[in-house]
Order: sequence, then C-alpha cells, then structure tokens
Amino acid sequence: SPSDPDLVERARAAKAKLGDKVFVLGHHYQRDEVIQFADVTGDSFKLARDAAARPQAEYIVFCGVHFMAESADILTGDDQKVVLPDLAAGCSMADMATAEQVAECWDVLTEAGIAEQVVPVSYMNSSADIKAFTGKHGGTICTSSNAERALDWAFEQGEKVLFLPDQHLGRNTAVRDMGMSLEDCVVYNPHKPNGGLTAEELRAAKMILWRGHCSVHGRFSLDSVNEVRERIPGVNVLVHPECRHEVVAAADHVGSTEYIIKTLEAAPAGSKWAIGTELNLVRRLANRFASEDKEIVFLDRTVCFCSTMNRIDLPHLVWALESLAEGTLVNRIEVDKETEAFAKLALERMLALP
Ligand code: 13P
Ligand code: SF4
Repeated sequence: SPSDPDLVERARAAKAKLGDKVFVLGHHYQRDEVIQFADVTGDSFKLARDAAARPQAEYIVFCGVHFMAESADILTGDDQKVVLPDLAAGCSMADMATAEQVAECWDVLTEAGIAEQVVPVSYMNSSADIKAFTGKHGGTICTSSNAERALDWAFEQGEKVLFLPDQHLGRNTAVRDMGMSLEDCVVYNPHKPNGGLTAEELRAAKMILWRGHCSVHGRFSLDSVNEVRERIPGVNVLVHPECRHEVVAAADHVGSTEYIIKTLEAAPAGSKWAIGTELNLVRRLANRFASEDKEIVFLDRTVCFCSTMNRIDLPHLVWALESLAEGTLVNRIEVDKETEAFAKLALERMLALP
C-alpha cells in the first residue's frame, strides 16, 4: 500500500543518503504520501522560481507533471538533472496545443494580416516547444498567479494577444480582471480550418484564445455553485481560474492554488468554504483547518482527482530516490538546447514581470 510504513522508511532513508545532492519539489496537487517528502511545496509560479534555488543539488526530483519538470530543467544549470518519478505524469491541457498546430495558427494570423500585432502569452501548462514558440515571437509565459500582469505587459508590446492553451484562464483574466468584454475574445479551434474563424473575426478580436482547457477544472459547473450555495447557507465559493467563465463569474474568490491556501489561512473561524480545484489539495486543506473550525468542502462531489498528478505516488518516489541514491539516473527530463534557449527567454520575461 502507498502509505506502507516500509515505503515511508525507505523514502526517508534514500533521501537522507542523498542529503544536499537532492532537492524535492512538490506541487500542491500531489498526494499527501508524496508531499510529506517535498523540501518545497508551491503553485506553478513558486515552483518555477524555486527550482533554481538550490544550485548545489545535483538532482531535482519534481513531484508534479511533465511541463513543470521541463520548466525546471530550462531554469536550472546544465549540471543539474531534473527527474520526474513517473514519465506518464503529463497534462491533458498541455497536450491540447502541439508545436505543429501552433505554427499553423501563426500562419493563419499572418494570412489575416495581424501576426505583427499579436503577442503570444502561454500558460505555464504547456510543452517546452510552445514556450519556445512564445519566446521566439516576443511573448511571455504566465501562471494562474500572474496572468493579469502578463497580459498588461503583452498589451504594452502589441494590440492583440494569442493566449495558449487554456481558454478559460485567458478569458477569465481578460474579462473578470481587466474589464474586457466577452466580444473582445474569440476562440481558435486547432481542429478546424483557419481555427474556425474568419479573417474579419480575427482582426476584430483583442484576445485570441486557444481552444484548450483543464479536464479537471472544466467539470465544475454553474450548477455546482448554485447547489453548494443552497446546501450550505453563507458558504464562500473559492475557485481556480482554470474553471469555466460562468463558474468564475458566480464565485466569490478566484485564484491560484497558493492564493487558495493563503485565503483559507486568513479566513475567520466559523467560516464555510466550497473550493473548486483539485481534490488532493482540497482534502488536505479540509483536514488542516478542521481544528480551527473552518468548514471546507469540495465544490462538486462528482469531480475527481487530476489523474496525471496522481501518477506520482509513494512507490514511484521511492524508486526514483533509491535509484539516485545508488547512483543510477532515472526518468531524466531534458529539453534540447535550442528549444531551451527560446523557452528560457519567455520564462525569464515572466520572472521579470513587476
Ligand atoms: P497553480 O498551482 O499555478 O495554481 O496551477 C494549477 C494547475 O493546474 C497546475 O497544473
Ligand atoms: Fe493539467 Fe488540469 Fe491536471 Fe493541472 S489539474 S496538471 S491543468 S489536467
């Protein structure tokens, strides 16, 4: 079993043997059994920043998903090796934008005569190839905690933004935080000729949103919000900006995983919260704050874990740590040099945002 005391002991022993040679990063959506071994936990932004915080560590073990491990490789030195304990820990959203599709989209924008006015802004949840495309075309990366600042910056560089690959984060930030209208946004569908848009529609748009979404957050609905408000009078609804626009519009608070944690830390005793984000995090928060008399429930009981985040479990972590402790490098994530150079440009623009 994953909470097997023998496995816990083995993980502890392998980590102790590695000492300063290993630095373990854990995203907030990771299982409890894994998060207990993280040297640092955080949202995507914090983990990108902290990846480079331990230059003496030869190995960075990334407990999260593939695009996060790629970003860590891009942002760390050549002599640091990034390890993802299970290579199958991908992200369905990141997979919704491939390099070929995005290159084709750029051709469509060029034909419509607007490519010169467009600045790409790519969500962290994208492959290194997409980040490199973004860097090459003068754009930046953003996460759910700095999307508004990234868009402010982008609109200083050009008149339009191509937002990849999460349409919801793009729309929510533009409309909820920046006062744009829904009519300012169009959705580019990579499975349709010309993205399913006319050249006129592209020319009129301010935000060109890629048709991608998170398979977990996309399942919260307006019904989930209405139902929880009925069931728990006085409940505060707090959701992640990867949720659909109508969910975000009906919520009381919206923010990244780190924001969700900070909001609950500051919440008064006796308050009630329904949280629309990944289940591992919501359960951990419900347990943590139960003793402070804060009632925390999952926004919709029919939504489940992020299956790829959950791929990293204690057996995989033990295997990775023990292999490294024995001097065997396993599951290294390494971005090729050319991709890395352009992707780094885009990531550094993000890290330099005010
Ligand atoms: P944040 O931790 O940045 O809020 O990201 C959420 C997410 O979906 C990561 O996959
Ligand atoms: Fe991807 Fe959504 Fe899972 Fe995050 S929660 S890793 S965006 S599928």
